[in-house]
Amino acid sequence: MAAYGLLCLVVGLRSRARRGAMQSCTQAVDGTTPLLVAHASQTGTAEELAAQTVRALATAGVPATLQSFAQLEPSLLSSLSQALFIVSTYGEGDAPDVAAHFVASMDASLDLSRLHYGLLALGDRRYRSFCGFGRELDTWLQSHGARPLAPRIEVDGGDEASLQRWRHNLSHIAGTADLPDWQGAPFDSWTLRARRHLNPGSLGGAVYHIELASPHPACGWEAGDLLQLEVPADPGRPREYSIASLPTDGVVQLLVRLERHADGSHGLASGWLTQAAPEGAPVRARLRAHSHFRIGHNRGRDLILIGNGTGLAGLRSHLRQRAAQRDGATTRRHWLIFGERQAAHDVYYADELRQWQSDGLLTRLDLVYSRDGHTERYVQDRLRAESDRVRSWLDAGAAIYVCGSLQGMAAEVDAVLQQTLGAGLAELQRQGRYRRDVY
Ligand SMILES: Cc1cc2nc3c(=O)[nH]c(=O)nc-3n(C[C@H](O)[C@H](O)[C@H](O)COP(=O)(O)OP(=O)(O)OC[C@H]3O[C@@H](n4cnc5c(N)ncnc54)[C@H](O)[C@@H]3O)c2cc1C
Ligand SMILES: Cc1cc2nc3c(=O)[nH]c(=O)nc-3n(C[C@H](O)[C@H](O)[C@H](O)COP(=O)(O)O)c2cc1C
Repeated sequence: MAAYGLLCLVVGLRSRARRGAMQSCTQAVDGTTPLLVAHASQTGTAEELAAQTVRALATAGVPATLQSFAQLEPSLLSSLSQALFIVSTYGEGDAPDVAAHFVASMDASLDLSRLHYGLLALGDRRYRSFCGFGRELDTWLQSHGARPLAPRIEVDGGDEASLQRWRHNLSHIAGTADLPDWQGAPFDSWTLRARRHLNPGSLGGAVYHIELASPHPACGWEAGDLLQLEVPADPGRPREYSIASLPTDGVVQLLVRLERHADGSHGLASGWLTQAAPEGAPVRARLRAHSHFRIGHNRGRDLILIGNGTGLAGLRSHLRQRAAQRDGATTRRHWLIFGERQAAHDVYYADELRQWQSDGLLTRLDLVYSRDGHTERYVQDRLRAESDRVRSWLDAGAAIYVCGSLQGMAAEVDAVLQQTLGAGLAELQRQGRYRRDVY
């Protein structure tokens, strides 16, 4: 069945590319609508692969359109005859945030019997529910009558062999053997410019301010983006870090916590970056657009920025962006709720935060410490206590940005927002007003 489906799509798309007609496979290919390539991505990998898929198909004469699950209604699928899905898994086997609305609508009864699809599921075998969302989507599609063109391909931590199989299937779909090579952006040799230990004496893990200079002085990124790093001891398994600075700062600044394993050894990437690599050392890195955490159409909105620990990095880039854009006339408000362990040790960029408070950029600053003996220990406690204010900011149009640890912070913040806003939270997410960079 799968081989037949794939054959139908191949033949149909080939013939369309050649403006021919192929009557026998019209149930698989409608011949008029471009092939839908839909992505559900948290940190951009699935989105990048989907864009590469569309580009590769286009060069082979197969028109395709790129769409995020954020804009995808399950009911739309019943009118399609072909689609490719590229989806990652987050949390504990969950769909990425952008697919929340789609997932909530998955219980609707639908007839997808016209649809033939390919599915690339991204995941990591170290998580209990490997490719959880990809598998759930596959089951859901088939239970509604859709037919796979080929078995689902599961990618473990970006493994090249699985991606190669996807490219192979695509070349069948496009009817060509020579799809262009589509490796991601190459890693460049950056330079470790500076490193500063920010929290000596803290009960928590050591946090470092790191500065890296790009080999291309004109290279650009946006507030919210990520830097991906490859460490000498573990090439092929890059680590992501949230960028804390702007291109106008001239360097990428990161906040990196030294990871300690149970046996006392250091994390490979964080150990190398914060301890082993000498200043001036070359660092293999590349910038990654993180479209779901950029400001996007929230440009004119008030911001509620919530985070803990190294999560201040992603929030700081947005605040620096807003500070750079200030023209005195702006009435946009910013509320930072940040959690760490001890006030005496763990306030990063304290001078900058104080400056932003005194010049009015930060309308509110809530610093919450878990080890200083207060009853409100975590950002989620403060958020719960401030639920009326949260509602009133949101009523005035604010967007929420959350950055930092998923376990213990982002999941709890999400639960408090759910209690406070009910169905309003899903609506905020649908509007792109609830964005997360959590790990
Ligand atoms: C979107 C995103 C943004 C992030 N931003 C920051 C940030 O701003 N600051 C910061 O300090 N950290 C950030 N991280 C975490 C960072 O990427 C690393 O996971 C962290 O530094 C630990 O890596 P390590 O090599 O030092 O530890 P490892 O030696 O990797 O060990 C840490 C743990 O992760 C597991 N692990 C090992 N390899 C990997 C891998 N390749 N991928 C996932 N897990 C692995 C191990 O089983 C171990 O339990 C972010 C992660 C993501 C996904
Ligand atoms: C916080 C976090 C949770 C994750 N949870 C899972 C999981 O439950 N199952 C899985 O297979 N992969 C999991 N992953 C791995 C991602 O799915 C994988 O890295 C994927 O390539 C990310 O693609 P994206 O950038 O498009 O979101 C998780 C990754 C992170 C950072």
